[in-house]
Amino acid sequence: MLDKRILIKDALKKKPSTKVAIAGWIKQIKPLGKLIFITLRDRSGEMQLIAKQDLKTFKELSKVTRESSLIFEGNIQESKQKSGGNELEIKDFQILNQAETPLPIDVGAGTSNIDKRIDHRFLDTREEKINAIFRIRSKIFKLTADFFDKEDFTNITTPKITSAGVESGAELFNIQYFKKNAFLSQSPQIYKQMFVAGGFERVYEIAPVFRAEKSNTTRHLTEFTGVDMEMGFIKDEHDIMDVVEELFKYILTELKKVCKEELELLEIKPIVPKKIPRLSMKEIKTTLSKHGKSLSEDDDLDSEAEEILGEIIKKEYNEEFVFVTNYPWEVRPFYHMKPKDDKNGTKSFDLIWNGVEIATGAQREHRYDILKKQATEKGIKLDEMEAYAEIFKFGCPPHGGIGLGLDRMVQRLLKLNNVREAILLPRDPERLTP
Ligand code: 4AD
Ligand code: MG
Repeated sequence: MLDKRILIKDALKKKPSTKVAIAGWIKQIKPLGKLIFITLRDRSGEMQLIAKQDLKTFKELSKVTRESSLIFEGNIQESKQKSGGNELEIKDFQILNQAETPLPIDVGAGTSNIDKRIDHRFLDTREEKINAIFRIRSKIFKLTADFFDKEDFTNITTPKITSAGVESGAELFNIQYFKKNAFLSQSPQIYKQMFVAGGFERVYEIAPVFRAEKSNTTRHLTEFTGVDMEMGFIKDEHDIMDVVEELFKYILTELKKVCKEELELLEIKPIVPKKIPRLSMKEIKTTLSKHGKSLSEDDDLDSEAEEILGEIIKKEYNEEFVFVTNYPWEVRPFYHMKPKDDKNGTKSFDLIWNGVEIATGAQREHRYDILKKQATEKGIKLDEMEAYAEIFKFGCPPHGGIGLGLDRMVQRLLKLNNVREAILLPRDPERLTP
């Protein structure tokens, strides 16, 4: 029967009396005396099905459980219900896989807590709103790659088993690599810079990033999807922000077209940025202190500060995004370039979306001697990082880039409470399964 299967969205368009086969999962089944009413769900939608008592296997059908997978054959007829539309009068069916009872989570009822839902995630994602989150995520992934491709970036795939990182060492996961000690990659930073210098000028990667962060928050994962890009021959960090601004204009404009139904279902109206404000850390700290949030000169923004900032930006600029520029040197890694006239600053920025950091970027220091001095300032011996140091010895152009978190992008767009809602199978300090 499966060879005759068509999708529900197509069955819904057929003329009455057409014979069709549709397959999917039982969302609802209600035996009502001489009739059985079924709501069947497949990847394209839902449809009402009716079985009458004269069906030979009526009794067998009445015992089918919710979330079982079946294929049905029958005739299209117009529904007598108020909502109208097509329904299927069942003439034959096959049970492909009967679902055990009780279901471990209440699919579609939204009553199970997130931990339980993730324990049984493949059942959870059958619920159309949850399913919509991941169809939107899939399109964001594609649109991001499309954008970089269109802008002449080359996609690179870099090792996730590494011998060292260039971000904070505290967040590295140790692994035993035969007789050596190795780490899971905490960012493709080294490799992005390497292949800008490698003649590609513009590179990007969308791949897993690992962070041994003990923090159990609604925004941290130990494994997430990084969207990283790096570009050469830039004038300054504003060239990078220009590209990132275009990236979000593109993603959100296109997403409204390709995920219209999913966005409607989740009641999300994406707001395409017009001009993302670029405000320096100094300006922002002054503004924040007027709103009762005081931070000292060398402080980073904490999550509360980002949240307040998000509100201010919405009110004063009518935008959801803001670039926070010129982070203090104190809170940035050694490879961020310092402005000519400010040894305590960096040519770096974060992108905040609806009050949460979704990206960090900077112009990198490409002059070997200065980079070496900056590393020493942070207690790092550049010469011991041979593969990294070499990049800056053979014609490395001025360059910079950004690292975005895909999971956080999805979370912020869809206004989800927890980043775990935006990833199929989250990893955090407590969770290693499924
Ligand atoms: O801010 P991060 O640590 O910056 C870097 O990795 C730099 N190499 C980027 C660069 O090119 N300068 O990470 C980048 C982004 C964050 O803004 C956030 O969106 C996401 O990655 N991210 C996380 N997402 C989920 N869980 C975590 N633990 C995350 N840590 C960072
Ligand atoms: Mg950051």
